[in-house]
Amino acid sequence: MTRAFVIGHPIAHSRSPLIHGHWLKTYGIPGSYEAIDVTPEALPQFFDRIRAGEFAGGNVTVPHKEAAFALCDFQDVDTCHLKAFNTLSTLPTSDGLMVYGQNTDLVGFLANLDAAAPGWDEGRGRAIVLGAGGAARAVAAGLALRMGEVHVLNRTRARAEALVDDLAGGLRAGDLDDFAHLAESARLVVNTTTLGMHGTRFEGIDFSRLPRDAVVTDIVYVPLETPFLAEARRLGLRTVDGLGMLLHQAAPGFALWFGVEPEVTADLRRLIEATL
Ligand code: ATR
Repeated sequence: MTRAFVIGHPIAHSRSPLIHGHWLKTYGIPGSYEAIDVTPEALPQFFDRIRAGEFAGGNVTVPHKEAAFALCDFQDVDTCHLKAFNTLSTLPTSDGLMVYGQNTDLVGFLANLDAAAPGWDEGRGRAIVLGAGGAARAVAAGLALRMGEVHVLNRTRARAEALVDDLAGGLRAGDLDDFAHLAESARLVVNTTTLGMHGTRFEGIDFSRLPRDAVVTDIVYVPLETPFLAEARRLGLRTVDGLGMLLHQAAPGFALWFGVEPEVTADLRRLIEATL
């Protein structure tokens, strides 16, 4: 039986077992997907278990994404610039099984927007990313592939500059005050900060300056409607919540381990939504 995992510390909150469990059942695959609590100290030994063939692969969540990047034997060329991996699989070589790492947050973020706000990238206009932490990297790198202009704005400007320098994809850095003059011709605004998780408003961000057809999205999905999204909705802007990104980032891993490309359906969304 094919086994896959999600590792993190803590891990109890993870919705990934529900997502993959739903797909295993839907496609009648006799596999398993387990949540395993792995401490940072135990991560290298866990990689040895993967190399020993115990699992086909799995997901990596907080706080292991950067460490997993460093521990992989092979890195996906399309996402190694993110320096953080969330999806592992095994690769047979003449020296035995090796661990292959990739980051599916980038494609998950884009696929969610494609599904929930078709046409969001028409004209390859301007995108604004708020925040410059770990989650902002995949979002900014993804947007650089699809938009003409990507601005990363952060409370601590130096962190935005470091991220932009590191990704080297023609991105621009700024601080939160820059929102006021960039908003007028922005097509998309993404909140990558953790503010919504605490139900906190984003001070100083004035959505009324955005064009009426702009799309506003948050990557936080607990709560589903963050104060950030609620405000955008109140102004009549198109909004996309963060749950779809979680579902879409899961799909490539499932295909790798279990050999079926799964669909992100309304049923699956309802199932996860009921747990939030
Ligand atoms: P992660 O790596 O998980 O994304 P993080 O590194 O703590 O988390 O990043 C959180 C992001 O939210 C950062 O961009 C942070 O801004 P700073 O770099 O200035 O710390 C942003 N953030 C957190 N609290 C904020 C607040 N009250 N106002 C504005 N930005 C905030």
